[in-house]
Amino acid sequence: MTDFLKPRYIPMNRRRRIYEGKAKVLYEGPEPGTLIQHFKDDATAFNSKKHAIIDGKGVLNNRISEYLFQNLNDIGVPTHFIRRLNMREQLIREVEIIPLEVVVRNVAAGSISTRLGLEEGTQLPRSIVEFYYKNDALSDPMVSEEHITAFGWASPPELDDIMALAIRVNDFLSGLFLGVGIRLVDFKIECGRLWENEMMRIVLADEISPDSCRLWDIKSNDKLDKDRFRRDMGGLVEAYTEVARRLGIMNEMENISVKGPKLVQ
Ligand SMILES: Nc1ncnc2c1ncn2[C@@H]1O[C@H](COP(=O)(O)OP(=O)(O)OP(=O)(O)O)[C@@H](O)[C@H]1O
Ligand SMILES: [Mg+2]
Repeated sequence: MTDFLKPRYIPMNRRRRIYEGKAKVLYEGPEPGTLIQHFKDDATAFNSKKHAIIDGKGVLNNRISEYLFQNLNDIGVPTHFIRRLNMREQLIREVEIIPLEVVVRNVAAGSISTRLGLEEGTQLPRSIVEFYYKNDALSDPMVSEEHITAFGWASPPELDDIMALAIRVNDFLSGLFLGVGIRLVDFKIECGRLWENEMMRIVLADEISPDSCRLWDIKSNDKLDKDRFRRDMGGLVEAYTEVARRLGIMNEMENISVKGPKLVQ
Protein backbone atom coordinates (compact mmCIF):
# COMPACT_ATOMS: atom_id res chain seq x y z
CA MET A 1 0.00 0.00 0.00
CA THR A 2 1.38 3.42 -0.90
CA ASP A 3 1.84 5.99 1.86
CA PHE A 4 -0.98 8.00 0.31
CA LEU A 5 -3.48 5.29 1.16
CA LYS A 6 -2.27 4.75 4.73
CA PRO A 7 -4.40 6.99 6.89
CA ARG A 8 -2.73 8.52 9.91
CA TYR A 9 -4.83 8.43 13.05
CA ILE A 10 -6.35 11.81 13.77
CA PRO A 11 -8.20 12.18 17.08
CA MET A 12 -11.91 12.84 16.47
CA ASN A 13 -11.94 16.20 18.24
CA ARG A 14 -9.05 17.56 16.17
CA ARG A 15 -10.47 16.74 12.80
CA ARG A 16 -11.75 19.54 10.63
CA ARG A 17 -15.43 19.14 9.86
CA ILE A 18 -16.01 20.02 6.22
CA TYR A 19 -19.75 19.48 5.95
CA GLU A 20 -22.59 18.11 8.02
CA GLY A 21 -25.52 16.76 6.04
CA LYS A 22 -28.68 14.97 7.08
CA ALA A 23 -27.23 11.47 7.20
CA LYS A 24 -23.45 11.94 7.11
CA VAL A 25 -20.60 14.16 8.23
CA LEU A 26 -17.56 14.81 6.08
CA TYR A 27 -14.21 15.40 7.79
CA GLU A 28 -10.91 16.42 6.32
CA GLY A 29 -8.97 13.29 5.38
CA PRO A 30 -5.43 12.31 6.34
CA GLU A 31 -3.99 13.35 2.96
CA PRO A 32 -4.88 16.14 0.54
CA GLY A 33 -7.67 15.06 -1.78
CA THR A 34 -9.17 12.68 0.77
CA LEU A 35 -12.13 12.97 3.12
CA ILE A 36 -13.58 10.85 5.88
CA GLN A 37 -17.26 10.06 5.43
CA HIS A 38 -19.00 9.43 8.78
CA PHE A 39 -22.43 7.75 8.77
CA LYS A 40 -24.86 9.07 11.40
CA ASP A 41 -27.99 7.39 12.77
CA ASP A 42 -30.24 10.22 11.59
CA ALA A 43 -33.11 9.33 9.28
CA THR A 44 -34.90 12.05 7.35
CA ALA A 45 -37.62 12.04 4.72
CA PHE A 46 -39.80 14.48 2.80
CA ASN A 47 -37.02 17.08 2.66
CA SER A 48 -36.34 16.86 6.43
CA LYS A 49 -39.98 17.39 7.45
CA LYS A 50 -39.69 13.99 9.12
CA HIS A 51 -36.68 13.18 11.29
CA ALA A 52 -35.67 10.46 13.73
CA ILE A 53 -32.56 8.89 15.21
CA ILE A 54 -32.47 5.17 14.50
CA ASP A 55 -29.80 3.42 16.58
CA GLY A 56 -27.48 1.42 14.38
CA LYS A 57 -28.55 2.71 10.96
CA GLY A 58 -25.23 4.49 10.36
CA VAL A 59 -23.20 1.38 11.10
CA LEU A 60 -25.30 -0.72 8.72
CA ASN A 61 -25.18 1.86 5.92
CA ASN A 62 -21.40 2.21 6.28
CA ARG A 63 -20.98 -1.56 5.93
CA ILE A 64 -23.50 -2.00 3.10
CA SER A 65 -22.18 0.99 1.13
CA GLU A 66 -18.59 -0.23 1.61
CA TYR A 67 -19.56 -3.64 0.25
CA LEU A 68 -21.35 -2.26 -2.81
CA PHE A 69 -18.67 0.34 -3.64
CA GLN A 70 -15.85 -2.22 -3.21
CA ASN A 71 -17.65 -4.60 -5.59
CA LEU A 72 -18.14 -1.77 -8.08
CA ASN A 73 -14.45 -0.79 -7.77
CA ASP A 74 -13.54 -4.44 -8.40
CA ILE A 75 -15.42 -4.54 -11.72
CA GLY A 76 -13.79 -1.27 -12.83
CA VAL A 77 -16.54 1.24 -12.06
CA PRO A 78 -14.72 4.40 -10.92
CA THR A 79 -15.81 5.40 -7.40
CA HIS A 80 -14.65 7.72 -4.60
CA PHE A 81 -14.32 4.81 -2.17
CA ILE A 82 -10.84 3.99 -0.83
CA ARG A 83 -11.46 1.89 2.26
CA ARG A 84 -13.51 1.56 5.42
CA LEU A 85 -11.82 2.92 8.53
CA ASN A 86 -14.13 1.75 11.31
CA MET A 87 -17.77 0.98 12.12
CA ARG A 88 -19.05 4.37 11.02
CA GLU A 89 -16.39 5.83 8.77
CA GLN A 90 -14.81 5.38 5.41
CA LEU A 91 -11.92 7.04 3.62
CA ILE A 92 -12.98 8.54 0.28
CA ARG A 93 -11.52 10.72 -2.44
CA GLU A 94 -12.76 14.27 -2.40
CA VAL A 95 -14.66 15.08 -5.58
CA GLU A 96 -16.54 18.07 -6.95
CA ILE A 97 -20.10 16.88 -6.55
CA ILE A 98 -22.33 17.37 -9.60
CA PRO A 99 -25.52 18.87 -8.14
CA LEU A 100 -27.79 16.10 -9.41
CA GLU A 101 -29.54 13.15 -7.85
CA VAL A 102 -29.50 10.49 -10.53
CA VAL A 103 -32.33 8.02 -10.06
CA VAL A 104 -32.56 4.70 -11.90
CA ARG A 105 -35.91 2.91 -11.84
CA ASN A 106 -36.71 -0.67 -12.79
CA VAL A 107 -40.12 -1.04 -11.14
CA ALA A 108 -42.68 1.72 -10.43
CA ALA A 109 -42.71 2.95 -6.83
CA GLY A 110 -42.79 6.24 -4.97
CA SER A 111 -42.97 9.48 -6.96
CA ILE A 112 -43.19 7.88 -10.44
CA SER A 113 -46.24 5.93 -9.33
CA THR A 114 -47.91 9.08 -8.06
CA ARG A 115 -46.92 11.25 -11.02
CA LEU A 116 -47.83 8.79 -13.79
CA GLY A 117 -50.57 6.87 -12.03
CA LEU A 118 -48.71 3.56 -12.09
CA GLU A 119 -49.50 0.95 -9.50
CA GLU A 120 -46.51 0.33 -7.22
CA GLY A 121 -44.75 -2.84 -8.31
CA THR A 122 -45.47 -2.40 -12.04
CA GLN A 123 -42.45 -3.50 -14.06
CA LEU A 124 -41.29 -0.57 -16.22
CA PRO A 125 -40.89 -1.22 -19.97
CA ARG A 126 -37.17 -0.61 -19.50
CA SER A 127 -34.88 0.95 -16.90
CA ILE A 128 -35.51 4.68 -16.70
CA VAL A 129 -32.96 7.30 -15.62
CA GLU A 130 -34.26 10.51 -14.02
CA PHE A 131 -32.44 13.62 -12.82
CA TYR A 132 -33.24 15.82 -9.85
CA TYR A 133 -31.48 19.11 -9.11
CA LYS A 134 -29.84 18.85 -5.65
CA ASN A 135 -31.31 21.87 -3.92
CA ASP A 136 -33.01 21.46 -0.55
CA ALA A 137 -34.61 24.93 -0.68
CA LEU A 138 -36.40 23.86 -3.89
CA SER A 139 -37.07 20.30 -2.62
CA ASP A 140 -34.82 18.71 -5.27
CA PRO A 141 -37.00 19.35 -8.35
CA MET A 142 -36.95 16.96 -11.30
CA VAL A 143 -35.01 18.36 -14.26
CA SER A 144 -34.31 17.30 -17.83
CA GLU A 145 -31.03 16.97 -19.71
CA GLU A 146 -31.86 20.34 -21.31
CA HIS A 147 -31.89 22.06 -17.92
CA ILE A 148 -28.69 20.33 -16.85
CA THR A 149 -26.69 21.40 -19.88
CA ALA A 150 -28.33 24.84 -20.26
CA PHE A 151 -27.56 25.79 -16.64
CA GLY A 152 -24.12 24.18 -16.85
CA TRP A 153 -24.57 21.70 -13.99
CA ALA A 154 -22.93 19.13 -16.26
CA SER A 155 -21.67 19.28 -19.85
CA PRO A 156 -23.16 17.01 -22.55
CA PRO A 157 -20.15 14.62 -22.48
CA GLU A 158 -20.27 14.53 -18.66
CA LEU A 159 -23.96 13.74 -18.83
CA ASP A 160 -23.18 10.86 -21.22
CA ASP A 161 -20.66 9.52 -18.69
CA ILE A 162 -23.17 9.90 -15.84
CA MET A 163 -25.86 8.01 -17.79
CA ALA A 164 -23.43 5.22 -18.72
CA LEU A 165 -22.26 4.97 -15.10
CA ALA A 166 -25.83 4.86 -13.80
CA ILE A 167 -26.83 2.08 -16.23
CA ARG A 168 -23.70 0.08 -15.42
CA VAL A 169 -24.32 0.39 -11.69
CA ASN A 170 -27.94 -0.66 -12.24
CA ASP A 171 -26.99 -3.74 -14.29
CA PHE A 172 -24.42 -4.87 -11.74
CA LEU A 173 -26.43 -4.16 -8.61
CA SER A 174 -29.65 -5.66 -10.03
CA GLY A 175 -27.80 -8.94 -10.56
CA LEU A 176 -26.03 -8.79 -7.23
CA PHE A 177 -29.27 -8.24 -5.30
CA LEU A 178 -31.20 -10.79 -7.38
CA GLY A 179 -28.61 -13.35 -6.30
CA VAL A 180 -29.64 -12.81 -2.67
CA GLY A 181 -33.39 -12.76 -3.30
CA ILE A 182 -33.83 -8.98 -3.47
CA ARG A 183 -35.41 -6.93 -6.27
CA LEU A 184 -33.65 -3.62 -6.93
CA VAL A 185 -36.76 -1.48 -7.55
CA ASP A 186 -34.89 1.85 -7.85
CA PHE A 187 -31.91 3.75 -6.45
CA LYS A 188 -30.28 7.17 -6.33
CA ILE A 189 -26.64 7.96 -6.97
CA GLU A 190 -24.50 11.08 -6.90
CA CYS A 191 -21.51 11.61 -9.17
CA GLY A 192 -18.51 13.87 -8.92
CA ARG A 193 -15.53 15.16 -10.87
CA LEU A 194 -12.18 13.70 -9.87
CA TRP A 195 -8.99 15.25 -11.24
CA GLU A 196 -5.90 13.13 -11.67
CA ASN A 197 -3.06 15.21 -13.10
CA GLU A 198 -4.69 17.05 -15.99
CA MET A 199 -7.37 14.41 -16.50
CA MET A 200 -10.90 14.66 -15.17
CA ARG A 201 -13.09 11.61 -14.60
CA ILE A 202 -16.68 11.25 -13.52
CA VAL A 203 -16.81 8.93 -10.52
CA LEU A 204 -19.53 7.49 -8.32
CA ALA A 205 -19.66 9.33 -4.96
CA ASP A 206 -21.79 9.58 -1.80
CA GLU A 207 -23.36 6.26 -0.71
CA ILE A 208 -25.46 3.35 -1.94
CA SER A 209 -27.45 1.85 0.92
CA PRO A 210 -31.03 0.97 1.88
CA ASP A 211 -31.41 4.74 2.52
CA SER A 212 -30.90 5.42 -1.18
CA CYS A 213 -32.42 2.29 -2.78
CA ARG A 214 -35.77 0.56 -2.85
CA LEU A 215 -35.12 -3.11 -2.10
CA TRP A 216 -37.98 -5.61 -2.05
CA ASP A 217 -37.82 -9.24 -1.05
CA ILE A 218 -38.34 -11.25 -4.24
CA LYS A 219 -40.90 -13.63 -2.75
CA SER A 220 -42.88 -11.56 -0.25
CA ASN A 221 -42.30 -8.04 -1.68
CA ASP A 222 -41.38 -7.01 1.89
CA LYS A 223 -39.68 -3.65 1.92
CA LEU A 224 -36.04 -3.75 3.08
CA ASP A 225 -35.32 -0.03 2.72
CA LYS A 226 -36.04 3.50 3.93
CA ASP A 227 -39.70 3.30 2.88
CA ARG A 228 -40.17 1.55 6.24
CA PHE A 229 -39.33 4.91 7.84
CA ARG A 230 -41.16 7.11 5.28
CA ARG A 231 -44.33 5.02 5.72
CA ASP A 232 -44.06 4.43 9.50
CA MET A 233 -43.81 0.67 9.08
CA GLY A 234 -41.17 0.13 11.80
CA GLY A 235 -38.50 -2.57 11.69
CA LEU A 236 -35.97 -0.47 9.80
CA VAL A 237 -32.83 -1.72 11.53
CA GLU A 238 -34.09 -5.31 11.23
CA ALA A 239 -34.65 -4.80 7.48
CA TYR A 240 -31.19 -3.20 6.91
CA THR A 241 -29.62 -6.00 8.99
CA GLU A 242 -31.36 -8.54 6.74
CA VAL A 243 -29.88 -6.86 3.64
CA ALA A 244 -26.41 -6.97 5.24
CA ARG A 245 -26.89 -10.60 6.25
CA ARG A 246 -27.97 -11.67 2.76
CA LEU A 247 -25.00 -9.87 1.22
CA GLY A 248 -22.80 -11.90 3.55
CA ILE A 249 -21.49 -8.81 5.31
CA MET A 250 -22.45 -10.10 8.72
CA ASN A 251 -22.32 -13.76 9.44
CA GLU A 252 -25.57 -15.07 10.79
CA MET A 253 -24.31 -15.58 14.31
CA GLU A 254 -22.74 -12.17 14.59
CA ASN A 255 -24.86 -9.98 16.78
CA ILE A 256 -23.36 -6.72 15.63
CA SER A 257 -23.20 -4.20 18.44
CA VAL A 258 -24.61 -1.31 16.50
CA LYS A 259 -25.33 0.82 19.48
CA GLY A 260 -21.81 1.04 20.82
CA PRO A 261 -20.79 1.45 24.41
CA LYS A 262 -23.04 3.54 26.63
CA LEU A 263 -21.75 6.08 29.11
CA VAL A 264 -22.25 4.90 32.68
CA GLN A 265 -23.81 7.77 34.59
N1 LIG B 1 -16.43 12.12 -2.47
C1 LIG B 1 -17.09 13.20 -2.08
N2 LIG B 1 -16.51 14.41 -2.12
C2 LIG B 1 -17.19 15.53 -1.72
N3 LIG B 1 -18.45 15.52 -1.29
C3 LIG B 1 -19.10 14.35 -1.23
C4 LIG B 1 -18.47 13.13 -1.64
N4 LIG B 1 -19.36 12.12 -1.49
C5 LIG B 1 -20.50 12.68 -1.03
N5 LIG B 1 -20.36 14.01 -0.87
C6 LIG B 1 -21.38 14.95 -0.35
O1 LIG B 1 -21.35 14.82 1.06
C7 LIG B 1 -22.64 15.05 1.62
C8 LIG B 1 -23.04 13.83 2.41
O2 LIG B 1 -23.87 14.17 3.45
P1 LIG B 1 -25.42 13.81 3.48
O3 LIG B 1 -25.74 12.68 2.56
O4 LIG B 1 -25.79 13.71 4.90
O5 LIG B 1 -26.00 15.15 2.83
P2 LIG B 1 -27.51 15.52 2.66
O6 LIG B 1 -28.09 15.97 3.92
O7 LIG B 1 -28.16 14.40 1.93
O8 LIG B 1 -27.41 16.83 1.82
P3 LIG B 1 -27.12 17.07 0.34
O9 LIG B 1 -28.38 17.69 -0.16
O10 LIG B 1 -25.94 17.99 0.31
O11 LIG B 1 -26.83 15.72 -0.26
C9 LIG B 1 -23.56 15.29 0.44
O12 LIG B 1 -23.71 16.70 0.25
C10 LIG B 1 -22.79 14.69 -0.74
O13 LIG B 1 -23.15 15.32 -1.94
MG1 LIG C 1 -27.34 12.70 1.09
